[in-house]
Amino acid sequence: MISVQNLSKLYGTFPALRGVSFEVPTGQVLGFLGPNGAGKSTTMKILTGYLYASGGSANVDGIDVEKNPVEVRRRVGYLPETNPLYADMRVDDYLRFVGEIRGVKGRDLRAAMDRVIASCGLQKVVKKGISELSKGYRQRVGLAQAMIHDPQILILDEPTSGLDPNQIVEIRDLIRSLGANRTVVLSTHYLQEVEATCDRILIVSGGQLVADGTHRQLCDMLPTRKVVVEIAGSADDVATKLQSAFPGARVEKLVTDPAIASFRVEQDAGAAGDMRGTVADLASKNSWKVLGMRQEGSLEDVFRHLTYDKGAAAAQGAA
Ligand SMILES: Nc1ncnc2c1ncn2[C@@H]1O[C@H](COP(=O)(O)OP(=O)(O)O)[C@@H](O)[C@H]1O
Ligand SMILES: [Mg+2]
Repeated sequence: MISVQNLSKLYGTFPALRGVSFEVPTGQVLGFLGPNGAGKSTTMKILTGYLYASGGSANVDGIDVEKNPVEVRRRVGYLPETNPLYADMRVDDYLRFVGEIRGVKGRDLRAAMDRVIASCGLQKVVKKGISELSKGYRQRVGLAQAMIHDPQILILDEPTSGLDPNQIVEIRDLIRSLGANRTVVLSTHYLQEVEATCDRILIVSGGQLVADGTHRQLCDMLPTRKVVVEIAGSADDVATKLQSAFPGARVEKLVTDPAIASFRVEQDAGAAGDMRGTVADLASKNSWKVLGMRQEGSLEDVFRHLTYDKGAAAAQGAA
């Protein structure tokens, strides 16, 4: 369990964190999102006892990170954004070295090494020098070092940044399996990653929390609802009929092939009901052959709505 209360951080006079509060219950996988400079890494460094806060408090399993950083680090595995590794060491030597620093010894250390080598898929590279490894394998070594002392909490700062699409999928699967029986806080810029791996999402912007909830709850924060429907044939009257079924909505014809009529209907979130039901009723009444229908309104829209639109509006207000 992680508890952060009214956390603030000044770098000189620059406020990187401005009163951030949240809790992460045991076993949850939390996605930590925000544009560059939002304060994600700063929060993670404070949580792992590598940086002091300027105000507020952070506790891990009830232990204050500032008063007892050593005890906190025993419980937490941390993969920093920069993933600092000793390039001239072999993978096995490096993991042994990190294990020893964390106080794992003898038979326990050998068992711990076997465990992280297996769970991070490092069997093929244990005898290789770290400098010879691909970026994907280096991230695996970074995860392995974070877990060598078998912590129940993992704090991973952009674990998939800079990886190619295949490596991203591999590391994402790995994180999902690690998260099955651990508490994980994960920062990332890949929004699909959050949808695929996280139980809950926090969005920070300008050192403040701007959203906290499940993927569904965050999407419900969007000011409009959108449905895209595809109907076979040219269906000339579709737009008119959609417009009268959704008074006040924006009905937009999407360009696809001439054999398919494709429309987006967008209305205020306040309007009642699931739009898809209304479209389905309309289709059956008019014998439209519906080829596809989907709700739009993704985490990407939420992210932009909360971090970009507001930033742009604030900047315009200031100008
Ligand atoms: N050591 C530092 N000294 C001064 N400013 C810093 C330092 N570290 C981070 N910052 C600033 O604090 C803000 C938050 O940074 P960071 O926590 O790294 O954000 P994120 O990880 O979300 O990109 C940024 O504006 C960054 O430039
Ligand atoms: Mg960062």
